Amino acid sequence: MDVKGKVAMVTGGAAGIGRAYCEELLKNGAKVSICDINEDVGVKLADLLGAKFGNTKVIFCPCDVTDYPQFQDAFRKTIAAFGGLDIVVNNAGVFNDRFWEFEVDVNLNGVIRGTLLAMQLMGKDKGGRGGTVVVTSSTMGYKPCPSMPIYTATKHALIGFIRSFGDPYHTNLTGIRVIALCPGMTLTDAIPEDVKLALLSPNFIHLWDKDVASQAPQAAQSVGRALIHVLQKAQSGSVWVAENNKSAKEVKFPNF
Ligand SMILES: NC(=O)c1ccc[n+]([C@@H]2O[C@H](COP(=O)([O-])OP(=O)(O)OC[C@H]3O[C@@H](n4cnc5c(N)ncnc54)[C@H](O)[C@@H]3O)[C@@H](O)[C@H]2O)c1
Repeated sequence: MDVKGKVAMVTGGAAGIGRAYCEELLKNGAKVSICDINEDVGVKLADLLGAKFGNTKVIFCPCDVTDYPQFQDAFRKTIAAFGGLDIVVNNAGVFNDRFWEFEVDVNLNGVIRGTLLAMQLMGKDKGGRGGTVVVTSSTMGYKPCPSMPIYTATKHALIGFIRSFGDPYHTNLTGIRVIALCPGMTLTDAIPEDVKLALLSPNFIHLWDKDVASQAPQAAQSVGRALIHVLQKAQSGSVWVAENNKSAKEVKFPNF
C-alpha cells in the first residue's frame, strides 16, 4: 500500500509511539486523525502538525477507546472531515498491572472495539472500500514476561486476534488487511520512573530487570518508521517486530 493520499486514524495518537505514527504518516503524505483521551495534548499536537504539514491534513478527535459511542463518533468525524478512511491504527494502551481490569479494557477490548468499528465502517461487505487495521502489540505479545503477566496477556491476545482475523476468509470478505506491530522497549511516558508502581507486586522488580535486560530502549520515531514499512509490505495476519532501533522484521510462528 502506498500511504500517500490515504486517510489514517491513530488511537493514543497524542503522545509516545502514537505521536510518532502520526508524524511518519503525515511525512509520507497521509491525512491523519489524532484520536486520544488527552484532549489538551492532542489539540496542541494537531495545531503543531497542521502548521508543519498543512491544516487540512490533520484533525484531533476526542476518543476514549473504552467508550464505544465516543469511539464510534471519532470514526464518523474522521470520515466526515476527510471523505473516507483507509488506515486504522489501534495503538492506545496502558501499562499497569495493578489496575488490571482497566488495562484489559484499554489494551484488549479497546482494540477489539476499534477493529470491529473499522470492519463496520470500512468493510467491503458493508459497502465500504476496505483498508488496513494495524494494532500495536509488543515484544511482550509473543514472549512470556513474568514481571507483567496481565499486560503480557493483553498483548498476546492481540496477536491471536490479528492472526485469526487475518485469515483469507475474513480479508476477502471485508477487504481489510489486519497486521500486528510489536515494539520492543521504547522511550515514552508509558513506563513510570518507579516501575514498581506498575507491577502487581513490588517484589516482581527483579523479574522486570530480567525481562528487559536484553532490550536497549529505542526512539519512538523508529517504531513510526516501522509502521510505514508494514503498511507498505505486510500481508494480512502478519506480525512484525520493531526493537532496538532496527527496521521492522516479520515474526514467524510455527504451523500447528
Ligand atoms: N513504550 C514501550 O516501551 C512500549 C513497548 C511495546 C508496546 N507499547 C505499546 O505501544 C502503545 C503506545 O504506548 P506508548 O509507550 O506510546 O504510551 P504513552 O503513554 O506514551 O502514550 C499513550 C497514549 O495513549 C493515550 N491513551 C491512554 N488511554 C487511552 C484511552 N483509553 N483511549 C484513547 N487514548 C488513550 C494517552 O493519552 C497517550 O497519548 C501501547 O499500546 C503500548 O502498550 C509500548
